[in-house]
Formats: sequence, C-alpha cells, structure tokens
Amino acid sequence: MREICIVLTVASAFITAGALQLPKYVKPCGRNDPNFNECVIKHARETLKAPILEKGDPKYKLPSISPLLITEIKVVNTNGINLIIRDIKLHGLLGVSVDKLEFDFEKKRVFGEFRFPVLEIIGKYKMSGRLLLLPINGEGDLNITLVDSKMSVEGDFVQEIVGETQHAVVNNPRATMDPSRMYVLLTNLFNGDKVLGKQMNEFLNDKWKDAYNSLSAPIVEGIVQAVISVINEASSVVPFEEAFPESLP
Ligand SMILES: *[C@@H]1O[C@H](CO)[C@@H](O)[C@H](O)[C@H]1NC(C)=O
Repeated sequence: MREICIVLTVASAFITAGALQLPKYVKPCGRNDPNFNECVIKHARETLKAPILEKGDPKYKLPSISPLLITEIKVVNTNGINLIIRDIKLHGLLGVSVDKLEFDFEKKRVFGEFRFPVLEIIGKYKMSGRLLLLPINGEGDLNITLVDSKMSVEGDFVQEIVGETQHAVVNNPRATMDPSRMYVLLTNLFNGDKVLGKQMNEFLNDKWKDAYNSLSAPIVEGIVQAVISVINEASSVVPFEEAFPESLP
C-alpha cells in the first residue's frame, strides 16, 4: 500500500481569476507553427535565464523557486517506510536543462525531458520502519542531494475556465527521475545514537541506488507536483489564447 500527501506553500490554484498578457520574459509560440515544439523549447530555455525567476514575480503568482519551498512531503508505508519531510527547501531547479518538450493539443498531452546537475532537498524529517531490510528511525535534519538527474514527465494538458477565460492546466503528472548519484545525510537517527547513525548514513550512501529506489517515487512525485502547481498557478493569470495563440501576428 502506498499513500502520498503533499502540502504546498503556494496558494491553492485558481482563487482569483486573471487575464494578463504573457510577461516579457515568456515568448509565445503559435499553435499552427509546424515547428511548435522546437519553438517552445527555445523559448523555455530563454525564460529559464530570466533573472526575475530567482526572486519570483507576484504579479504572475510566481513564488521564488530558488529555493522552492514545500511545506511537507509524506511517505506513508512505502516499501515499509514511513517518512515525513517538512519545511523543505528544494535547491537547484533553475539549473535545469530542457532536453525535450512535446505538446499534443489533440491528445491533450504534454511530455518533457529535463536534466538537473544538482538537486538538493533540505528539510526536517521524521522516519520509522525498515529501509533496505534494516530497521530505521529518527527525527532531525535531512539532506538528500541528487547529482546529474534525468527526469521525464508526462501529464494531461487541458484547459479549465477561470473566471471568464480558458487557461492551460497540467494535470496528473507522471514522472520518473534517474540520478547518477545520491548523497544522503540524516542527523539524529536512532535517538541520537552517534555510532548507529553514522553506520546507517554510510550504509545508505554505499547502497544509494537501492535506497533511492525504495524511497524516491513519492519524493519525486511530491517535487513534480510542487513544480507543476507553481506552473498552473502562473497559468491561471494568463488566458490560454495569450499563452498558446493559434498563430503569431
Ligand atoms: C547537502 O549535501 C551535499 C552533498 O554532501 C553538500 O554538498 C551540501 O553542502 C549539503 N547541503 C547543506 C545545506 O548542508
């Protein structure tokens, strides 16, 4: 059985309607452009270089994503583990390279492939259960650092009405992420037993691939949902026809 719960600091989607034009740092592509996907990749790469993304842009409901704050990711009874991570600071999102972006307006699908040189998940954790067959418990600080991660994300790409205008929304994201290395540091394991804590951290870093495989699915899902809710939130202030016009003037 697996259950995940993610609570975000960003306000829940679609509280206020908006009908703004695209901000200067996001250039549109015409839906009837035969090279639409190439155009979107090019523009996405340019947008990611916009300095304003560091701080956020409240007019467009964009929080600072450097780091992105996530209130809580809860891993309930996943492969024998219960884990709550709170007050998460996710560093490294803006280092992303966009390798692929494919929109299918007919099938209402979006697919993307991304690479992150370093993603650092910093937070407070509470954990109990078994990890790689060993009993584990603790409550303290957590640092999970993922190096050179490839991520693919597929989602439903639909339109929803906000106020009086249609807005693009990504729903049901399905993601996989494959890092080439993971570093883990959990402080205060086993009620602060230094020897056992050190052994467990060493073990998890030696067997990082297995540890990643047992823990990552809900964490990756939490991160992806957090990022997508930021995107959907920003999309709720710009009408679909502004963001994805049929053709460009
Ligand atoms: C998290 O761990 C990584 C890898 O060990 C390290 O480089 C980084 O400085 C740590 N971050 C914090 C905030 O301690």
